[in-house]
This record gives sequence, structure tokens and C-alpha cells, in this order.
Amino acid sequence: MELSILIQDFQHIFHTSEQPRLFFAPGRINLIGEHTDYNGGHVFPAAISYGTYALAVKRNDQKVRFYSKNLSDVGIIECDLADLNYQTEHDWANYPKGMVNHFEKEGYSFPVGFDVLFYGNIPNGAGLSSSASIELVTGVMLEGLYDLSIDRIRMVQLGQMVENNYIGVNSGIMDQFAIGKGKQDHALLLDCQTLDYSYAPLNLQSHVIIIINTNKRRELAGSKYNERRSECESALKDLQTELDITSLGDLEPEQFEQFKQLIKDPIKQKRAKHAVYENHRTLEALESLKQGNLKHFGELMNQSHLSLQHDYEVTGLELDTIVEAAWDQEGVLGARMTGAGFGGCAIAIVDQNHVEDFKKDVNNTYRNKVGYDATFYVATIGDGAKELNYKGVL
Ligand code: GLA
Repeated sequence: MELSILIQDFQHIFHTSEQPRLFFAPGRINLIGEHTDYNGGHVFPAAISYGTYALAVKRNDQKVRFYSKNLSDVGIIECDLADLNYQTEHDWANYPKGMVNHFEKEGYSFPVGFDVLFYGNIPNGAGLSSSASIELVTGVMLEGLYDLSIDRIRMVQLGQMVENNYIGVNSGIMDQFAIGKGKQDHALLLDCQTLDYSYAPLNLQSHVIIIINTNKRRELAGSKYNERRSECESALKDLQTELDITSLGDLEPEQFEQFKQLIKDPIKQKRAKHAVYENHRTLEALESLKQGNLKHFGELMNQSHLSLQHDYEVTGLELDTIVEAAWDQEGVLGARMTGAGFGGCAIAIVDQNHVEDFKKDVNNTYRNKVGYDATFYVATIGDGAKELNYKGVL
């Protein structure tokens, strides 16, 4: 999408000749460390170049007007700064509205409202965090338009609070953190318990990361996600009867093996096993990457998928078909689902000389088994949320 077209659209929709300011927040992939964030473990995500653009100007009154170019038939959604509560009829606009609401709760005040146009190029429903992307692009927009000084990690936490308390999805901190703090050509290792983080250069030598969208709608995702969370919480309580731990992330695999019989329910035991081993794999994956041992990195990704398939049970036919087909291809170091699961996307690390064959063969297998096509994207790892300075570029 041409930037000049977005600017023209903004001016047309909001009947203004003002030049809007431009902000961007990416989507994310997670390389490894899945369903570990709300278990106090580590995650290893990266921001991608697909994301959400926000074009905005301040108004002279108390109105706030939201428009999405992706949902243009919905038209402008309008509210007043005096009433920023969740409203079902405000539909997608509850995400940015929730951010304004949470900034206010945090003590920031907005003397006047604003007009904003959003445009996102994250594939729809793909599990690449379009919701965290719109939350964070709203965060940097508020920061920029009103000249606020806000700590970036606090902004990330506000995004998660919007998701948890305003929208009502009980998600962890990974998505907002990756999107708020991402760095070009780097993955981010985050300890979700302490929020300590560090960057690791994503040097994949002759390989690229391919994102594969199953194009399966993630229907039951919300309820199953919350079910997994409570299964893990219950497993943790069982372990705490004898162990002094605050999260599953505190456990090494050896300790888990020693005490796992405390978790009476075999299903919950499997869920906890995934959380503990996946956390361990994530730290190991960072080391492999640092040592340039991409082969081992890929193996850990494969193990991660198997654990999500058999122990955590969040994959399903579509993701398993894609990932298993990817494993069979030449030039593939590793492949796994990414994000919450139950549909959405997988990722694979593929030698750049094999990308075309990879796409063709994986898609053939997928179409034969599932009945429709997958979509393939080469991932570019970009920066976190920020204002884009386009003055002089047009
Ligand atoms: C979703 C959530 C994240 C994380 C992943 C699974 O993306 O928003 O917080 O739990 O699922 O790793």
C-alpha cells in the first residue's frame, strides 16, 4: 500500500487537508517458547515487517474517531473522551479505545480528541498478533501526538491489560512485548517472570524464515487457550504442595520428572511437562543460535512442535500437516507452529535455494489433505512500534 494513498484516504475520510502523523507497529512470530509466557517461562519472538499503520491528527474537541481501511464498510466509529468504556457495537475499535482508556487510568490526560485511520497488512486471523499490533500502534500514536513520556515496557503492559481486562482475552505478555520492543534482524529473549530481556542477532546464514498460514480460522482458540491456562495453574498448585516454586518456569526438567507424580490428573501432567521442557528448549535454542549451530536450533523447533502436538494438544490437522510436510523437504532446518495454535501459522527455516520447491511441495501435500491452499510469506524481521517520519519522502 502506497503511503501517499493512505494519506489521501485519511484526508478524504476525515474531510481535512491536514497532514497526519504516521505510526507503525509490527506483527510477530515466535521462534520458540510457546505457551510459556503465562507459565513464567521464556519466549523467543521477533517482530516482522507486516503490521499496522496509524495515521492521526489531534482534534479541537473531545471527540475520538476511528476508521479502519481494512473494514471500510463499517465506516467511522466515534466516541467521546468522557466515555471510553468497552462497547460491543464499537467492534474492532475497542482495541484502540481500550488503549486510550488505559492511558487515562495510568494518569495521562487528553485535553482534546483525535482522528485516526488504521491500515493493517497482517494476514487476517493468522495468529501473528494483529490485536497486539493495533494496541501498540495506538500506544505510540498517543505518545507521539500528545508528547507523552511513557516507559516502553509500561506501554507493553498496558497493551496486555487491555487484552486481559478490557477485551477479555487472558493472554500473556509475549505479543505486546515482541511488538513494543522488537529490533530489526534480532530475536528477543524474554523472561516472562522478571521481564528481563536481551536481543540475539538472527544470523540464519543461507536460510530464511518462511511463515506458512494454514488459512484455518482460529475458532475455538479463545476458550481452549483459557482452558490450557487453568490446567497449568492447577498443575502448579499440585506441585506447590511440596515444592517452593511460583511458576512452572521455575522448574528444571529433572526436578519435574522427580515430582511430576504430585500432579494427579494425567492430562494436567502433560500440560505442565510441555511448559517445563519448552522453557528449557527455549534457553537451549538461544545458545545454539549464539554458537551458530542452526542444525540444533532447528531440531529444538521440531521438538517444540511435537510437544505442542502431543502434550499441549494445541496443533490440529492443519498445522500438523504443514509442519510434517515441511520436515520432509530438502533444505529445511526446522519447522513448528507459532503463536497460540488451533490454526493460524507455522514457521519453517529453509535454505534460500529451496524456497520455491518448498512452497510447491508443502502446498500440494496440504491441499490434498486439507482441501484448500496454504499461504507462504518470507519473514523480514523489523523494528518494534514507532513513529515513521515520512516528511520529505513523498
Ligand atoms: C498467544 C498469546 C501469547 C502466548 C501465545 C502462546 O499469542 O497472546 O501471550 O501465550 O499465544 O505462546
